[in-house]
Parts: sequence; structure tokens; C-alpha cells
Amino acid sequence: MQAVIDYLKQNEARFIQELCDYVRFPSVSAQPQHTADMKACAGWLVEHCKRIGLTAKLCPTAGHPIVLAKTPPVKSKTRRPHFLVYGHYDVQPPEPFNLWKTPPFEPRIAGRSLFARGASDNKGQNLAHLKAVEAYLKTSTELPCDLTFVIEGEEEVGSKSLASFLKAHRAELRCDAVVVSDTGMPSKKHPALTYALRGIAAFEIILHGPSRDLHSGIFGGSVDNPAMALAQLLAKLRDKNGRVAIPGFYDDVEKLSAYERKQFARLPYKESDYRKFLGVEKLFGEQGFTPLEQRSARPTLEINGLTSGYQGEGSKTIVPSWARVKITLRLVPDQSPAKVIKQVRQQLEKLCPPTVRMEIKSGHGAEPYIVSPTSVQAQAALRALKAAFGHEPVLMREGGSIPIVNDFKKILGADTLLLGLALPDDNAHSPNEKFDLDCFTKGQLMSAHLWQELSEVKP
Ligand code: BES
Ligand code: ZN
Repeated sequence: MQAVIDYLKQNEARFIQELCDYVRFPSVSAQPQHTADMKACAGWLVEHCKRIGLTAKLCPTAGHPIVLAKTPPVKSKTRRPHFLVYGHYDVQPPEPFNLWKTPPFEPRIAGRSLFARGASDNKGQNLAHLKAVEAYLKTSTELPCDLTFVIEGEEEVGSKSLASFLKAHRAELRCDAVVVSDTGMPSKKHPALTYALRGIAAFEIILHGPSRDLHSGIFGGSVDNPAMALAQLLAKLRDKNGRVAIPGFYDDVEKLSAYERKQFARLPYKESDYRKFLGVEKLFGEQGFTPLEQRSARPTLEINGLTSGYQGEGSKTIVPSWARVKITLRLVPDQSPAKVIKQVRQQLEKLCPPTVRMEIKSGHGAEPYIVSPTSVQAQAALRALKAAFGHEPVLMREGGSIPIVNDFKKILGADTLLLGLALPDDNAHSPNEKFDLDCFTKGQLMSAHLWQELSEVKP
């Protein structure tokens, strides 16, 4: 193990340069103009995996390609443990560009931060695992297990191709556990094992009014305004106590156990710092729950985008022809996206006035995820976190979604260990995303320890 640790230390500067190379690809999965960049980024990853001693290939899909890489086969009389490491090379759109201090795909290092879109979500995190395995292979240190890396290009758009890929490769991907570093930790002094993620259900609603934008002086007052109708409809979806006002929505929500509330209480949190960090005077959330609970263990309905009419400079006196909103709901165990989608549709149809025509498009959905935080594998992961970060790890739930983790369970029969390396101020999905270079190096160390710890336990 010492040889592995020394190798990681000696090669730190080169690893950072390689992370810079990785984040230079504008691999924005949501935008068709970046299709070639997606392919180039995946190609770079395959070459990188081969360079560090893995066997690797690019697997085409109906969408963006998947990178599949494996440690070289080891002859063994006994069955070796097999773990799968999942990550994604696609990134969120960088817009709005004007809020970036330096361009999103030109990496900039300041102190211990590396700024670029995708630095922490998720390129820096999956590269940390690749660097750990590089250290084993290049120092000829025997790995106690076989490893397979699956790094996809569609996580940020709902992982549409991955489930069929898992089914097609079920036999070779069967494993003892999946390891994912695509979540966060409260601070470098609080390395974390995340044992639950929220699910998601996405919608787009368009209210159609007059067949074209109309002069608001000539026609306004005699015809409904779709923007006003949409505002009124949306206002009815949340009550004054911060609860989602959709009949049946909370029916399947599991209560937090006393054990869980105890874990929440261990997390660092100061309301004034949190308010300052978010830039708000006052917080808002569902009554009866703490902000940490509200943002990870309670379901929500959020407007992600809202538009209608004229948004350019100056004024334009019209009754707009349409209004459009993008909504996502975050779901918690045991809510089901299919059931929630049905409930939302029913309520929208009930609320929509006859003076506009409503079009509803439902988008991606993912189930919430929860796994035992006390399993032997979870304990092994906690030991690896502690060894790398030098602090007692925390257990937490997180509010984000990683749609594929439920499929790992359903298709491969494996639990996922979520060992996130992102910090709360990493600006994931925001301008000026960064990755902390200490998290990068400690993440590599954590990964190196993890394979020892995990291989020693019998699930
Ligand atoms: N890395 C995030 C998920 C995440 C972030 C989980 C922080 C827990 C804490 C991932 O890349 C992501 O953004 N997922 C999307 C999924 C969606 C597009 C289906 C999300 O949560 O919005
Ligand atoms: Zn993301």
C-alpha cells in the first residue's frame, strides 16, 4: 500500500494537469451542437484508461457513448471480489457565460481550487478513482479485487441509454457493489457516506392562448392572458406552509427514523452562514422540518424555468400567445415517479381554466434511492473515508438525484456506495464551478484504501 500512496503523492502535479485536459472538453450532453465534443471527450477517456493499464473501449449507444474499462485479468483459484465504479463525463450547460470569471472550458487554478464546468460534477471525482487504480497498476501492487469502470455521457439528461447497456452486459457487470463519487460532503472535516438520494419527475407545461401575440390595448381585457393564467395555476401548487398542494402527494413519504434524525444532527450547520451562502434574507421551506431535512429528506416541487411574452429591452404592449414553465419534483422514499406524474397531471387538468389550452409534456423520471447505512460494506467505506481524510465520517441523505442507482440494484443486484468528493461551495450546475484539489488528492487516497477495505468484508 505504501508504494501506492507514494505514487499518488509523486504524481500529484501531473494528475492535476490531466484533470485540466479532461475538463477542456465541452461535453454538454443536453446541447446537440456538442455531440462531437462528447465523442472526443469519451475518446480521450478511453485512451487515458489504456495509458494507465486498463483495458478500455468506447461503447456506442442510441445517445452519447459509454466508456467501459477494466483492470487486467488476474489468475486466482478463489473468486475475487468485483466492484463497479460509475461516473459521468457529461456536464451541465455552462450558460449564462457572462457570470463566469473565466471561460467555463478553460481551466483555471486559484489556490487549491480548479475552476471549470464539470470539475467537480463529475470529472474530478471519477478521475480520482482512475488515478487510484493507476497507482496500483503502475507500482505493480496487487489489487485485492477486480474493477470495472462505467463512465457514461448522459447522466445530466436522465441516463437514457444506460439501463439497456447494463442489461446487455449484465453478466460481465455483475458485482459485489457499485461505487459512485458524484455527491458531496459537508466539509473536508466531514467526509461523507450518502445513503439516500431523492428521485425526480420532470414536466413542461405550455398554456396556449390567442393564435398570435395581440395588441394589449386593442384586445386586452377580452381574452385570457396565458402568462397570468399560468402564474395563477402555479401559485396553487404550493401552500403557505411550503407543502406541495397535490392531492395524495405525501401518501407514500416515509417518516424519518430517530436514528436518521440523530445523523442529521451530527452535520455541521449554522443558519446565518447558510443564508449568507445562498444570498437570501430569510429561508423558506416545509414547516416542521429543519433546512437540512427539507433539502434532502422531503419532497419538493420547483419551477426551473418560466417564460412568456416579450423579454427584450424596453416595453412591448402585448397579450402573449403562450406561456411555458419547466418543473421538476424531487421525490423521497417511497414515492414513485409514475404515481406522482399521474397525480400532478390530474391536478393540473383540474386547475386549468377553459380560457387557455394546456399542453403537458412529461420528461425524465427517476426513483428515490435508499440503502442501509449500517451494512458491512458501508462500514468498510467509512473506514476508507476516515483513513484518507483523517476525520470521522458522517452519514447523510442528499437531495440530488442519480437516476441510474436504482437500476444497479434492479439489473445487477448490487447496492451503491455513494462517496461524494464535492464541497457545498463547488457551484455544481452554477457559474464558476470548481473542484477542490485536496478533495481530488484525498479522493484518490480514499479510493486506494476502499478496495482493501471492501475486499475484506463479505456482504
Ligand atoms: N452529481 C449530481 C447529483 C447529486 C448532486 C446528488 C449532489 C447528490 C448531491 C448529478 O450530476 C446530477 O446533477 N443529477 C441530476 C439528475 C437529473 C438531471 C435527472 C440532478 O440531480 O438534477
Ligand atoms: Zn450534475
